[in-house]
Amino acid sequence: MKTTLASPLNASQTTDFLPLEGTDYVEFYVGNAKQAAHYYMSAFGFQALAYAGPETGVRDRASYAVRQHKLTFVLTTPLRGDNPIADHIYKHGDGVKALSLRVQDATRAWEETTKRGAQSFMEPQRLQDKDGEVVISGIHTYGDTVHLFIERKNYSGIFMPGYRAWSNPHFQPTDCGLQYVDHCVGNVGWNQMNKWVTFYEEVLGFKNILSFDDEDISTEYSALMSKVMSSGNGYVKFPINEPAEGKKKSQVEEYLEFYNGEGCQHVAMATNDIVRTVTELKKRGVEFLQVPTTYYDTLLERVGSIDEDLTPLKELGILVDRDNEGYLLQLFTKPVEDRPTLFFEIIQRKGAVSFGKGNFKALFEAIEREQEARGNL
Ligand code: FE2
Repeated sequence: MKTTLASPLNASQTTDFLPLEGTDYVEFYVGNAKQAAHYYMSAFGFQALAYAGPETGVRDRASYAVRQHKLTFVLTTPLRGDNPIADHIYKHGDGVKALSLRVQDATRAWEETTKRGAQSFMEPQRLQDKDGEVVISGIHTYGDTVHLFIERKNYSGIFMPGYRAWSNPHFQPTDCGLQYVDHCVGNVGWNQMNKWVTFYEEVLGFKNILSFDDEDISTEYSALMSKVMSSGNGYVKFPINEPAEGKKKSQVEEYLEFYNGEGCQHVAMATNDIVRTVTELKKRGVEFLQVPTTYYDTLLERVGSIDEDLTPLKELGILVDRDNEGYLLQLFTKPVEDRPTLFFEIIQRKGAVSFGKGNFKALFEAIEREQEARGNL
C-alpha cells in the first residue's frame, strides 16, 4: 500500500454540526506549573498572560496561561495529592490534558458530540466575571486526553473568568516567532488507529485526509502507521499514530510505555521564519533531533529549488519536504520531559499541506538513536 491523499475538502463536503474556529489553547498537567510556565517563557518565547489559583478563588489547582501570537498554553498543577490532576501526573508524568477548540456555541458542540457517542468530560458550564461570559464544555478522546469546547464570543477579559492578568515587568522574553498550532498528534495503542479515525469522523465530523502505512513510515528497525484527521474547514488537524511491527521497538510503543497509555505525542507550532525561530530556540536551550549532515548532500535534488539558503538550514538541522502544493520546512525537539513522551515540532509551510513524509526516514532514524541511548530500542 502507498500513501493515499484524499481529494481536497470543499465547502459542500464539510459537516457543519461542529464548526471549529481553531485551537483555543493547549493545557498541560505538570508537576510544577510555576516552573513549567517559566520554561515556556524563557525557552520558547511565550509571554505571561493570566493566572488562576487560590488567590483568585480556585482552591485545588494553580494554572498559568502563557501566549505567543495565536498560541496559548496553560500549565496546570494540583495543589494537593488527593486530586484527579495529581493522579494524571502520577500516571503519565507531565503531558497534554486538553486540546481546547474554539467554537461559537459550546453547549451545542457538547450536545452534538455526545449525541454521536462522545463520552462527556464536562457538561456545559457558564463562567462569568465583570468582563462577560465564557461557556466551556468537554468530551474525552484517546487515553486521558480531552477536548474542551470554548465559547468566548461574549467575553472581553484577558483569558477566562477565574483568571487574573499576570505579568512580570522585569521578565518579558522576546518572542521566537511561533504563531499558532498547526496540528497535534495522538499516539494510540496497537490496532487502535482506525477506532479513533472513526471517532473523529462520526463524533466530530472530521475527514481522513492522509494515510501512511508501515511501509511509508519505517526504518530498518521500527515502524508506525498514521492517519491525518482534519476538521471540515481544515483549521484543526489531528494525525493519529499507532505502532507497527518492526525488528525493534517502535517509537510509538516507547511512548505508550512511558506515558502509561495513549496521549498527545507532539504539538506542531507554525512559524513564518523557521531559521530565525530555530536560531532563537537553540540559543535559549531547546534541544532538537539531529539528522546526519549527509541529509543535505542531495536535498535540493529531492525537493527542487527553495527560497532559503542551504547553509543555515544545514547548520540548524532544519528539514525540507515538498508535496504537490509546495514545500515545508520542519524540525522536531527532543522530548521536553525526562520521560520520552511529549515533544514539539516547528513547521513553516510554503504552500505544502502535508506533513513531511520525505523526512520520516531520516527523522525516525534520529529518534531511534535517541531510543537506543535510553536503552529502549
Ligand atoms: Fe507533526
